[in-house]
Amino acid sequence: MSDTGRRRGKAWGGRFSGATDPAVERFSASIHFDQALASHDVRGSIAHARMLGASGLISAEDADTLVEGLGRVLEEIEAGEFPFDPAAEDIHMNIEARLTELLGPVAGRLHTGRSRNDQVATDLLLFLRQVCRGTQIGIWELVAALIEQAGDHVDTVLPGYTHLQRAQPVRLAHHWLAYVEMLERDAGRFADAAARLDRAPLGSGALAGSTLPLDREHTAAALGFAGPGRNSLDSVSSRDGALEYLAAAAICMVNLSRLSEELVLWSSAEFGFIELADAYSTGSSLMPQKKNPDVPELVRGKTGRVVGDLTSLLVTMKGLPLAYNRDLQEDKEPLFDAVVTLRDSLEVLTGAVATLRVDGERMRAAARDPMLLATDLAEVLVQERVPFREAHEAVGRVVAHCVEKDLDLGALSREDLHAFHDAFPASAAELLDLERSLEARSLPGGTARSVVREALEAAAQRLDAAAARLEAGKEEDS
Ligand code: ARG
Repeated sequence: MSDTGRRRGKAWGGRFSGATDPAVERFSASIHFDQALASHDVRGSIAHARMLGASGLISAEDADTLVEGLGRVLEEIEAGEFPFDPAAEDIHMNIEARLTELLGPVAGRLHTGRSRNDQVATDLLLFLRQVCRGTQIGIWELVAALIEQAGDHVDTVLPGYTHLQRAQPVRLAHHWLAYVEMLERDAGRFADAAARLDRAPLGSGALAGSTLPLDREHTAAALGFAGPGRNSLDSVSSRDGALEYLAAAAICMVNLSRLSEELVLWSSAEFGFIELADAYSTGSSLMPQKKNPDVPELVRGKTGRVVGDLTSLLVTMKGLPLAYNRDLQEDKEPLFDAVVTLRDSLEVLTGAVATLRVDGERMRAAARDPMLLATDLAEVLVQERVPFREAHEAVGRVVAHCVEKDLDLGALSREDLHAFHDAFPASAAELLDLERSLEARSLPGGTARSVVREALEAAAQRLDAAAARLEAGKEEDS
């Protein structure tokens, strides 16, 4: 045993006589972050110990002792009483050291036929499976809040925007449901990623498998995997499951950031469309009148972090030859950061959306400008068999005339309109009506009341189905 501590002596064994430099110890330690894998590590070890017993590599009695000891370790972890020791480098060494304290030399049998390389890869897949489910739950909670708001605002009308210029009127429910669509795709990406986390690395050893008769099917099944990894080199050295999570998280954060940006804009005096609840706003330390939208601003700001987390792991992976390289330890901090940042962002945005107050009058006033119906006017001409380009040109001239003469488009008579095209069938007042314009947009995906109501109903059903699906997956990934 080396002279630098019982744990490290155990880790490196007889090959080493000198001590590791303390700076290297600090530099290479990961326990301060990989302790997040503790419960998964114990779970993997319990499956491994049982398999060792079942295949006769250790006695049934030793296997039972190990499983029982690991159970005690798990209890300590869950109670927050596990004595994490920075000198023991990482979570795997910490748990083995504690097991040795609890059980004595029999603990030394646990690592039979196993390397920390297949161990950490297994831990990470178990962790990813759990967080893919947890993240989906968080997303669906925000979806539920948006559906609730949409249900309250089928008849609230606001301008839809392109280029941040008022473009055409839409129902507020339609606007909220756009985010529901985005978030459902986000949830789908985490579900897709989870489906590929189905091959157990255990039994791959350091990189080339093992000479021992391990039962890889046994551990894979015990941990809820479809089967053992098909290639030991791949199993210990791939991190694309983590990359998929990070990519899905980055996209999801970008979607949350867009929603946040609208909450910031809409709660400004310039828009005045919404007011965030006190619980989701903050004051200014200097200006007593201020009510600031810090929650959506921070979500928008933290999006950069999560995009950075993805970039970080992509760059870490880019130059790595097969198989395991210590660089891979750098997979964890960006991953854990993204998981927590996304989880918290979803939580606070769900609260902010659920409690925000809509100023329907302000929205309607902004949507009432007849100019927003100029496209409808061109489409009236198309219905009169005028080619669209000609109609667009004619209405463009009508609009320019109104702007130049400071006229209300809605006030033009049929005769006024005929100066621009003789196919206009009625006055602007008769042709341009906000309600009628909304109702005319009744194609699938449109903003007519009946279409929005159906979309709302369908989204609520998908929400129920997703909740049931995620509830059913609870046991497997806990
Ligand atoms: N802490 C390491 C990691 O996260 C565990 C595996 C270490 N393996 C090794 N051969 N040094 O990747």
